[in-house]
Amino acid sequence: MREWDPRSASAAEVRSLVETVNAVLAADLPDDPPWRDVQVRDYLAETMPGERRITWVAEDDRLPEGESKIFAHVSILLLGDIGVLEVLVRPELRRRGLGRQLVAVAARRAYLEGFSSIGVEAIGGTTAIPFYESLGFEREYVETRGVLNLDSVDWLALGGMASGISPGYRIEYHPGGPPDHLLEAYAQAKAEAQHDDEDLELAPRSSDPQRLRDSIETLHRRGLKPYIVLAIHEATGAVAGLTEVVVPAQHPERADQYDTIVVREHRGYGIDRAIKARMLFELRAAEPTLRQVQTWNAQHNESMLKVNAELGYQSDRDWYEYIADVTQLVQSLELS
Ligand SMILES: CC(C)(COP(=O)(O)OP(=O)(O)OC[C@H]1O[C@@H](n2cnc3c(N)ncnc32)[C@H](O)[C@@H]1OP(=O)(O)O)[C@@H](O)C(=O)NCCC(=O)NCCS
Repeated sequence: MREWDPRSASAAEVRSLVETVNAVLAADLPDDPPWRDVQVRDYLAETMPGERRITWVAEDDRLPEGESKIFAHVSILLLGDIGVLEVLVRPELRRRGLGRQLVAVAARRAYLEGFSSIGVEAIGGTTAIPFYESLGFEREYVETRGVLNLDSVDWLALGGMASGISPGYRIEYHPGGPPDHLLEAYAQAKAEAQHDDEDLELAPRSSDPQRLRDSIETLHRRGLKPYIVLAIHEATGAVAGLTEVVVPAQHPERADQYDTIVVREHRGYGIDRAIKARMLFELRAAEPTLRQVQTWNAQHNESMLKVNAELGYQSDRDWYEYIADVTQLVQSLELS
């Protein structure tokens, strides 16, 4: 096992890691599209300003020069006072203690760097759940993933939804990110929604204009193309609602719907339904390879779940956020 820098890694190493990701996907999430070897290096290397991602790989070192066989991978993204972990072990090499060893290396680094906790997203129905629980991680938050198949969308009905917004609001579409003149109002809408959140902030929202700009630039550098649809309250110019989708270069068949916000005082005017419906029309036109859009919602968010069901999203799996105290984790891993 060694620390690994995707920036200086060979093309063979990156290719081998993609193969491992795809072997893991085939075993754990067989309905998710496999990764392409497109901008994977950028995806792994780029972070927001002030954040760092440290990566280790386990590889077969008996191969000839120029070949590579990476069979396991761990990374920890250090942000704020939390480290966000990602661990993958090839299916045929599981239950031999490799995963535990990888977490131990990353946790020790987070401890040495003074971080207080480690968070991780674990997908329901996969081996990650018993794995993190065996390491003492505690479940903090759950969301349900919904997946929408574009070929099952009723576009006529969707057209009605897209235009069903109350008078006094205007919908705008911004491929690539919000324009400069809207950054302030956009960040304001995000800041207001921040108060409603209970999750672990493993992916913090960008609620000030500079951070927002940085986050959009980071998405582009990682190969994640952002699309934004927003609703403007015409009387005040405020951003009343917004929805963000990214289309990853690594799997352009399936887009991620990241964040949808309707600012509290603008709820009840059909904004959620209208901006999401408009987004689907725009994506269909802009991204010919796109087949599916996935989104994540808290189970208590009944109004958003209802709208998602109307649009054609089908509940897929639960996604959990787990957390562990770094000191306790390091101690228990060293004792075991
Ligand atoms: C989770 C994962 C990293 C574990 O790797 P691993 O090398 O098998 O883990 P370890 O052998 O170190 O297991 C440590 C402990 O975790 C628990 N555990 C791990 N897998 C388990 C399973 N399938 N069932 C029950 N317990 C399990 C056990 O307590 C195990 O100790 P034991 O083998 O002595 O009983 C690996 O299964 C993996 O890569 N999963 C991918 C999951 C994922 O995120 N998929 C979707 C994203 S693409």
